[in-house]
Amino acid sequence: MSVRSKFVTSAAILSLACLALAPVAVAQDGGATYKAKCAMCHGVDGKGHTPMGKTFKIEDLTSPAVKKMSDADMEAIVSKGKGHMPAYGSSLGPAGVKAVVAFIKSMK
Ligand code: HEC
Repeated sequence: MSVRSKFVTSAAILSLACLALAPVAVAQDGGATYKAKCAMCHGVDGKGHTPMGKTFKIEDLTSPAVKKMSDADMEAIVSKGKGHMPAYGSSLGPAGVKAVVAFIKSMK
């Protein structure tokens, strides 16, 4: 095999590997997860100004009361659910839950 075709082969393998890893990367993207699964109730800005938010009287995720919750407490709520809040532990996995909690913490 020439150096050039070796290079082309490894580039092809590399891009296949990237394709295979892409869904995992999306699952770990807290912001994307939030928009896809949480914003319909909590609102894109986390303030809960949605019909669901009003019905369930959802707390503003950017309020001081929610901001002072520990990561562990939030991860527990997101994984196990609470009241009308659905459980996401099995669909997101521990890393996905951590990522979306980190995203919430970063919201202003
Ligand atoms: C069906 C609407 C709904 C969806 C979808 C939803 N939530 Fe909630 N969430 C709620 C409600 C209602 C509460 C308040 C629960 C309570 O205190 O009884 C809540 C509470 C929370 C809390 C705790 C803050 C508090 O007010 O006690 C966090 C953190 C949270 N949600 C994060 C998320 C994340 C992250 C997602 C997406 C993975 C999500 N939620 C999706 C309805 C929803």
